[in-house]
Amino acid sequence: MKPGYKAIYEQYRLSITSGLLKPGDKVPAVRVLANELGVARKTVETAWAILVGEGYLVSQGARGTRVNPDLVLARQSTVHSDISAAESPLRTGDTFRDLPGFLRLGMPSLDAFPYKKWLLLCGKAVRAMQPMEMTNPPLLGYMPLREAIAQYVNISRGLACTPEQIFITSGYNNNLRLILNTLGNANDKVVFEDPGYFFGQQALKRAVQNLHYVPVDNQGLNVGYLQHYHSDAHFVFVTPSHHSPLAVTLSLPRKHQLLDWARQNNRWIIEDDYDGEFHYTRKVLPALKSLDTHDRVIYMGTFSKTVMPALRVSYIVMPRATVAQFREAGELTESGQPVLTQKILAAFLSEGHFYKHLKKMRSLYSQRRKMMLAALEQVYPGIFNVEVNDGGMHIIAFLQNSTQDVDLAHIWQSHQLQVSPLSRWYNQTSKRYGLIMGYTNVRTFEEAVALLQRPARETQALLSVT
Ligand SMILES: Cc1ncc(COP(=O)(O)O)c(C=O)c1O
Repeated sequence: MKPGYKAIYEQYRLSITSGLLKPGDKVPAVRVLANELGVARKTVETAWAILVGEGYLVSQGARGTRVNPDLVLARQSTVHSDISAAESPLRTGDTFRDLPGFLRLGMPSLDAFPYKKWLLLCGKAVRAMQPMEMTNPPLLGYMPLREAIAQYVNISRGLACTPEQIFITSGYNNNLRLILNTLGNANDKVVFEDPGYFFGQQALKRAVQNLHYVPVDNQGLNVGYLQHYHSDAHFVFVTPSHHSPLAVTLSLPRKHQLLDWARQNNRWIIEDDYDGEFHYTRKVLPALKSLDTHDRVIYMGTFSKTVMPALRVSYIVMPRATVAQFREAGELTESGQPVLTQKILAAFLSEGHFYKHLKKMRSLYSQRRKMMLAALEQVYPGIFNVEVNDGGMHIIAFLQNSTQDVDLAHIWQSHQLQVSPLSRWYNQTSKRYGLIMGYTNVRTFEEAVALLQRPARETQALLSVT
């Protein structure tokens, strides 16, 4: 549901009174926020007008709108003090990932990255480095970045968290280690989607002894199956906004079923929202976490898809009651993330460049996906079948009449096309076969055709023998 002016007004007023937005902080331009939320400009303008009228915001013409620099708040909100109180008492294989090449999965469009802006922010961050910031980095992350992320996930992904719930990490593997160390025991049952994120499975196979799989169908994770066979699972990993790799969305009834199950049995759901930002045919759906009234979801987000994988910045939104536990476990196993990177990223978010970039990428990916689908049809008519869904950064070219996706992927990889065979992402559910490919870095239809033609002869030869 689209937020009305009242919801936007209340969200921003809370952000200001709770200290998430500070006097002098810039708020997004009307146009940018309206686009991001999919609402009319008038809706945002009305919310801003009330906040200006009440003295929370001041409009500075072309310089934008800011939180009133003269604002003096009587007290911090209860949300903040609750968390600080919760935090303080316990203050005690064959990987294809590194191969160079084209059609790589999950890679943002590198040609469209705002390099100039990024360089400016890097320069600024380096020049503003304080001696204090050269000591050990803060364990849970650089506070302005935690604040900017809280603001972002609350507005764009429908969460209702505070910066104190954000733990800045270096990626999926770091998240796994942290979550398992903090909330798990050696023999806990862990459930993963089948098929499911290839690298996630590999990491979990090494990390846990009691790993099981639950099938995924066209409504996402089969929650009935989970309840029937693995109701004793301690952790369930899901990609609800956009399943990895099948790209389906967990249906609303299943979302509720999963949340109810977790609440009734005290289980943990780990929501991997790795590319939920990218939907093209409908409005971006709020995260599963937005429906989580009982705080059973540990939410994981990453900047690998929205900014760049080399950044190595991701985050966990910790359930409120677990913040102290995470800190305690983190003190033993973590060392914080580089402050400079976090400063640059914090500026990228809080100055609004991130929102603009996302908007640009959504429309670019939608165009590039169309081009790729047309090129596949031209070069391989009748060989692949693509089930077009409404989002993501990859497509699956399902093989119509063959199970040879592993051999086929080897052929394509020998032409520097770094596709992945779908069947390798399955464990026990009856497999489907095809090639998973990224399209985000293919700039033109002609380029897509030329790349796809590279292995055409060998592809025909392999499939005609099958
Ligand atoms: C399903 C899934 N989850 C999470 C990630 C994010 O990983 P990281 O933050 O380590 O780059 C990826 C990246 O490829 C992914 O495909």
